[in-house]
Amino acid sequence: MKAGSEPWAVSLGPIIKIKNLQKSFDGIRAIDNLDLEITKNSITAIVGPNGAGKTTLFDVITGFTESDAGEMRINNTIITGRKPEEIVALGLARTFQIPRLFKNLSIRENLLLAYNNSADKLGDDEFEEKAKRVFEMIGVSIDLDKSADDLSYGQRRIVEIARCLMRNVEIILMDEPTAGLFQKARESIKQVIKKLKQAGKTIVIIEHDMEFVADACEHVIVMDEGKSIAKGKPNEVLKQKKVLAAYIGE
Ligand SMILES: Nc1ncnc2c1ncn2[C@@H]1O[C@H](COP(=O)(O)OP(=O)(O)OP(=O)(O)O)[C@@H](O)[C@H]1O
Ligand SMILES: [Mg+2]
Repeated sequence: MKAGSEPWAVSLGPIIKIKNLQKSFDGIRAIDNLDLEITKNSITAIVGPNGAGKTTLFDVITGFTESDAGEMRINNTIITGRKPEEIVALGLARTFQIPRLFKNLSIRENLLLAYNNSADKLGDDEFEEKAKRVFEMIGVSIDLDKSADDLSYGQRRIVEIARCLMRNVEIILMDEPTAGLFQKARESIKQVIKKLKQAGKTIVIIEHDMEFVADACEHVIVMDEGKSIAKGKPNEVLKQKKVLAAYIGE
């Protein structure tokens, strides 16, 4: 393995650290002076009403959107201002609120897209081996020759997670991975997330289902109007008055 390809291996303290983050759109403060820390090898939920700034937070961390001010670090490396591909190379990838798979491509071809814009391309055998290991890691078996069009919505979400893992990322941000899924598919996603934790990964999920948060997540951060208004263990945080008020106020 190349030197420096495991930036997380030498880390101490939080794996993600964000200070005074700001992002406005036409005067609307989507992220408003946000401070946030994510514990290494944990499962953290980001919750909050519609428009709280959750997706914008992911967009800014992953370099899809430029922040206006503030500082973001992964394992103490400043990532503020870096491009998405550089951030993936530093060990952080994301999935989207609406799955972004190409339906006219096979699962294999969709997985190959993880290496678009990347310097670390794999040989054919290496790629097959890696894909096999990724699906073993998440405990799912899937035929790579299948067209993405033949997958259920839940399976598409899992393939999107697998695509993140095709790069050696340590942190995965998932934007509403259970949205639109029935109970059985939600359960599969929960199992995948738990497997990822066992494999040493750090998982941050935006989630609206509080039962899922209480059951699958160790930490929760509540966002409202671009700010972090509460954080801690789900069973303690989710019953706080200010948290309930943020939801009722939506
Ligand atoms: N590209 C953009 N251009 C203009 N305004 C934006 C843009 N992206 C987000 N916003 C605004 O920023 C605020 C936060 O939006 P964001 O999508 O981050 O919320 P969210 O917490 O993910 O909500 P939801 O739960 O509905 O997905 C909203 O007021 C939204 O309208
Ligand atoms: Mg969102």
